[in-house]
Amino acid sequence: MFFPLLFCQATEKKTVESAFLHAEKQTKYMLEEIDELEKQNGKELVSPRSIAEDGNLKMVVSRDWTSGFYPGVLWYLYEYTQNDFWKQKAVEFTSNIEREKWNATTHDMGFKIYCSFGNGLRLTKNAHYKDVIIESAATLVKRFNPNVGAIRSWDHNKDKWDFPVIIDNMMNLELLFEATKMTGDSTYYDVAVAHANTTLKNHFRKDNSSFHVISYDPETGEVEKRNTHQGYGHQSSWSRGQAWGLYGFTMCYRYTGNEAYLKQAEKIARFMLDHRNMPADLVPYWDYDAPGIPNEERDASAAAVMASALYEMGTYLGKRGELYAKSADKIISSLSTDYVSPIGENKGFILIHSTGAKPSNNEVDVPLIYADYYYLEALIRKDRLENQRPLTE
Ligand code: GLY
Repeated sequence: MFFPLLFCQATEKKTVESAFLHAEKQTKYMLEEIDELEKQNGKELVSPRSIAEDGNLKMVVSRDWTSGFYPGVLWYLYEYTQNDFWKQKAVEFTSNIEREKWNATTHDMGFKIYCSFGNGLRLTKNAHYKDVIIESAATLVKRFNPNVGAIRSWDHNKDKWDFPVIIDNMMNLELLFEATKMTGDSTYYDVAVAHANTTLKNHFRKDNSSFHVISYDPETGEVEKRNTHQGYGHQSSWSRGQAWGLYGFTMCYRYTGNEAYLKQAEKIARFMLDHRNMPADLVPYWDYDAPGIPNEERDASAAAVMASALYEMGTYLGKRGELYAKSADKIISSLSTDYVSPIGENKGFILIHSTGAKPSNNEVDVPLIYADYYYLEALIRKDRLENQRPLTE
């Protein structure tokens, strides 16, 4: 007798299991590479980001926006395997970036501190991690401008933008929601909600795609410019930006229960999944409007963010949500077969074929640490769904 459902569940379990086995092997190799570099360069470079043009591992200082992802990768390895080796490494790499809690020169606080200390707190309940998160949230809200109703994203390119807010900034709100839960101080929650509402109002086009950069007049709050920085053009749809929006509004729904956020998240998902330029394997090109499609680079990082967000969004949509979990499964199946690095190659990164910033020819078709981070997060979410456990706790 044949049991298709049981067979299917066993195959799915194998996907997650074998993906983590692969991730462990690659990450052990990466730790050796990091040790080697540390012997040559000292300890200032704290986290891996990508592979440099000369083929070396590209490491970054703690103020780089990507510095929290590698500690996060280590926490996810610990979460899945429960192996203390990964916990010890996660603790070590997390502590390397603690000073960022005082860095008010960027909006990237959530990426840095929540992916590292946030996961650490969730998995260890270490009270010090909680203090770091609260301090970081207090630093981040200094960038909020009440006239605009948003957190300023960048301080660079001041000649171009008076008060730039990028769609990516939605990702940093999770840290603020959590800080209110931890302290009872609603300031953080209020800033997060104002930022999400302003983004909802100004970042989206009629077709539910989003601009990358909206620049505001900091006195009046009027929109001055609708631009891109990493996309093909001001009117194009940069793939990772769409994924940040999907993830960001889904996460905001989790904390607020505001249906408008969930509706926007689903509209973004439909924009991506129904797009004429979305490839059959659901790993998007770096921009949905890139002019040379199908001869353009993919962005595995956008696919990984999208998969993780789709798993969560699906849980809020009842029966309809199953379709989104299926799309996420398709992405994970594609990434885990056609976008994984062979063992012992690519300096230990897990995924290949991501694109950071094509217009400036920077990090094109390379491994990127945030692709690895969201891929492991998506795998853990898939595993939780299959075991009927809550996705976020
Ligand atoms: N947040 C920067 C990026 O997505 O490239």
